[in-house]
Amino acid sequence: MSSNKFRSNSAMIAGFSAIWIAVIANETSHLFMPENEVHATSQEEVTFGYPIEVPAGFGAGVLEEKTDPVLIDIKPLLADASVEQGMKVARKCQSCHSFDEGGKNGTGPNLHNIVGAVVSEKQRGGYKLSNSLLSGVDIWTYDNLNAYLENPKSLAPQGNMNFAGLRKPKDRANIIKYLMEKTEDPPEVVLDELEKAEEGS
Ligand code: HEC
Repeated sequence: MSSNKFRSNSAMIAGFSAIWIAVIANETSHLFMPENEVHATSQEEVTFGYPIEVPAGFGAGVLEEKTDPVLIDIKPLLADASVEQGMKVARKCQSCHSFDEGGKNGTGPNLHNIVGAVVSEKQRGGYKLSNSLLSGVDIWTYDNLNAYLENPKSLAPQGNMNFAGLRKPKDRANIIKYLMEKTEDPPEVVLDELEKAEEGS
């Protein structure tokens, strides 16, 4: 009886032990497996993450451009723009551009008489303009100047003007006013509404 009991006890102990070994084995395998899995996923992250991360970096720029306020019509702002303020903005251009008549071409061309000008190397004293700019812009209208100064790559994607652009419409209006001051006969600023009204009449 007692030996039976003992036997059943040891059977129970053996049974429990077997269960525990199974549990422990299971537990420990779980302890290690996730680590392997984590390792695997982190490696996947490395291999997948890298190519994703690179376009994400570019994407951020694209996103930034997209979230920029829509390129507003600069012409109405020109009425209140200031040559003096424009002169301050021009400091950002001076390392590459001169503005006065007969000014030297530097990294960028001299910008005297630029407003309303046809984009041409002849007009810029033989300065070698990029094909991207020559094919991207025909005439420096107020709208084209506005777009180019906001982001030079918008009109000349392969162009040579390495300038981040003027994000603030007011800065662009002021620099354009300054460029008008440096242009002998700048074209009249015709607001879109007036133009439409004239076309209609
Ligand atoms: C780092 C030098 C650099 C800076 C700073 C710079 N530009 Fe330029 N800019 C250039 C170059 C180079 C070109 C010629 C681009 C090409 O050929 O694609 C150019 C071209 C231009 C043109 C077109 C000229 C033409 O003959 O059609 C305008 C207008 C202009 N820049 C205005 C500005 C203004 C305004 C600023 C300041 C707010 C400025 N740029 C700042 C280098 C610069």
